[in-house]
Amino acid sequence: MASSRHSGSSPVREAERVSDDTTAPRAPTGTHDVLPPESWRWQRFVDDFARRADRFGFGMVHTPIFEDARVFRRGIGAESEVVGKEMYEFEDRGGRKLALRPEGTASIVRAFVQHRPATPWRAWYVTPSFRYERPQAGRYRQHHQVGVEALGVEDPDVDVEVIALAWGFLAGLGLRRLQLQLNSMGCTQCRPDYVDALRSLLTRREESLCDEHQERYASNPLRVLDCKRAACIAATEDAPKIADALCEDCRSHHVRVREGLAEAGIPVVENPRLVRGFDYYTRTTFEFSSSALEGAQNAVGGGGRYDGLVEMLGGPPTPGIGFGIGIERSLLALDAEGVPAEPPPPPAAFVVDLTGGIPARRLVAELRSAGLKVERAYEGRSMKSQMKAADRSGAPVALIIGSEEAATQSVTIRMLREDVPQRTVTTDALVQEATTTGVIR
Ligand code: HAM
Repeated sequence: MASSRHSGSSPVREAERVSDDTTAPRAPTGTHDVLPPESWRWQRFVDDFARRADRFGFGMVHTPIFEDARVFRRGIGAESEVVGKEMYEFEDRGGRKLALRPEGTASIVRAFVQHRPATPWRAWYVTPSFRYERPQAGRYRQHHQVGVEALGVEDPDVDVEVIALAWGFLAGLGLRRLQLQLNSMGCTQCRPDYVDALRSLLTRREESLCDEHQERYASNPLRVLDCKRAACIAATEDAPKIADALCEDCRSHHVRVREGLAEAGIPVVENPRLVRGFDYYTRTTFEFSSSALEGAQNAVGGGGRYDGLVEMLGGPPTPGIGFGIGIERSLLALDAEGVPAEPPPPPAAFVVDLTGGIPARRLVAELRSAGLKVERAYEGRSMKSQMKAADRSGAPVALIIGSEEAATQSVTIRMLREDVPQRTVTTDALVQEATTTGVIR
């Protein structure tokens, strides 16, 4: 992305091209609009997540979708793919180097360092995330995540709780073909020796690595374990496992996490190659995948511990752990598993007004104030057209106002999906009944 002030004439040319072009602009490549009824699924998804997060003591946190680019560079790592190749960076008109958030964790930690809330601090969020990736099914340039971050507690029981929250949520959506992969990345005590050992092995096998990792393995050998190319997989098949190199503290932490997950009835697949794509991880790392999705894009969520991240962003030593769950991916997995999408609830009633619309205006206002979902027709359409609209809305009831009803301040209640004789009641009685019972019959 380029700012108009600092990148020469290209943005101007771009602007001219857009305004010259007679075709209608479309959403940028790799992004998508979410419209009803699909957006109802999103709403339910986020509401459900919010309720569960609240039950676990997480409070909602909003941070800006752009940050000082250093937040991500320092936090996620300048060498990582997400920062090195995929981050949307730009200078604003004041020359500040900013970046669109590629993920949620670093921003939450930046906010923690800035505001210093008392620990333990538990934050949940829902956020768009931006990564300049090659778009394909399940991989977008703007995707959305719900997630949590728990700061200030090193206790492995928190790891168990965080994983259990994600697992319970994903299973609660209806996903059955879920797998939880778990690993420990060690800590600053034990990881350096392991990384050295891995680097030596890779140096001996440099020629066998994929092109990219022949060049880059030395700066972060762990990334090679995460490489999906056959060359790197073969070259590291018998590589030492980090699980065998953990220090005593990391080992007992990991054992306790596994015990807690077993106690919670959450099946675990240990994956010593699970290193994930961000530099901030320490100890527990995990990923939730769905076997209903295509291999490369089958992760519906992932997370881990990051006991050094707060310090990296200028705060006091503070442990942390969290996860992010991809909304689009989870919904794709639900589709792939054939879990039906619940339709949005229909209105409780549809008001049909044959007298010009003023009584309808009043009636919908009163019923909505009473807490009911109500729709109406506009523009003085014919009875036939308004009844069609009532039918299309899915409402079980039409509230019909003709000239007689208007003169007597009453309404005719006609059941649209039941064979019941219609009846006429006063508007006051209708509103009163709707207020107390929450329905119209
Ligand atoms: P992540 O694994 O990069 O972790 O992303 C979390 C989830 O977001 C993925 O499992 C996937 O479902 C979804 N996702 C990621 N990239 C895309 C994309 N390009 N298109 C569609 N969906 C995508 C994180 O972002 C970490 N912040 C998680 C975390 C929280 N770790 C600790 N706390």
